Amino acid sequence: MAGILGHVSGCIRTFLSGVALENTMSVTQLRARGALSPASRLTSDALLQKKRAGQPITALTAYDYPTARLLDEAGIDLILVGDSLGMVVLGYENTLPVTLDEMLHHTRAVARGLHRSFLVADMPYGSYHSSLDDALRNAIRFIKEAGAQAVKIEGGASRAELVKRLTAAEVPVVAHIGLTPQSVHSMGGYRVQGRSLDAIDRLSADAVALEDAGAIAIVLEGIPRELAATITDHSGVPTIGIGAGPDCDGQILVFHDLFNLTFGPPAKFSRQYGDGATFFADALQQYREDVTAHRFPSDAESYHLPREVQLAVASTLPRARKA
Ligand code: KIV
Repeated sequence: MAGILGHVSGCIRTFLSGVALENTMSVTQLRARGALSPASRLTSDALLQKKRAGQPITALTAYDYPTARLLDEAGIDLILVGDSLGMVVLGYENTLPVTLDEMLHHTRAVARGLHRSFLVADMPYGSYHSSLDDALRNAIRFIKEAGAQAVKIEGGASRAELVKRLTAAEVPVVAHIGLTPQSVHSMGGYRVQGRSLDAIDRLSADAVALEDAGAIAIVLEGIPRELAATITDHSGVPTIGIGAGPDCDGQILVFHDLFNLTFGPPAKFSRQYGDGATFFADALQQYREDVTAHRFPSDAESYHLPREVQLAVASTLPRARKA
């Protein structure tokens, strides 16, 4: 019996190591290496030209290789590896626990998928809050090790010195003001910012200070449309809005909000472009039912012995049984 099995498995080995006419594993087809040449990538200057030409900048978050490729191939200008990954991908309650290593890991995955889009990585909470030296060291890792073209930091005029320091070290910085999720505790929750005269003055001054310090763009989150329009008008660098109305130079949303993949009702400012949750739930039910009912895999989805091995097995098995 052992001899027969040995013969059959030998044939299978020969068969499998022969010419591979089919995929024997689920492998993502990677792009040719040349496709990732830096020459094809958008730059911060290209984003600035869009602002000047009045062409809206399109931006979305991504956290992994396939999503990055889909966004890049769809022509999205700016891709942010946001620390929102903590909530939408890693299952944390807020963005505060996200670590530098997690951000670097996901930024590398996204960078591998990009051909054209401008790649920005969020610096997570704690990675730029203790000292300018630490912040610089951490920011450089995003550029040097993870392939980001810029980092994003949250905060207003109090971050101007940091923006100057990073910019001087060739680390382009996207600033982020208004509703800054890393300040959830000091803001007392996720609240629309900039509704009082004082707050309007403060946020307007923040935008000026950050631009003066060298920020290449400013994310405006969760502020009244009117304030976002004024900041955008007075800003020499692009503003990218999320919950800041239609008058910003660009718009960004969290990928999972676009596709109903957050297990909750959408925020007022976001729009669903597809129902991923229903799509996946239906497909998963179908898969479960097919396996349970022996409908998957079919014969066509199975590998087969070569004809001569089938014949050898058929002719040897009965003899083996007799012996
Ligand atoms: O982390 C994130 O996704 C962001 C965007 C919402 C701007 O900061």
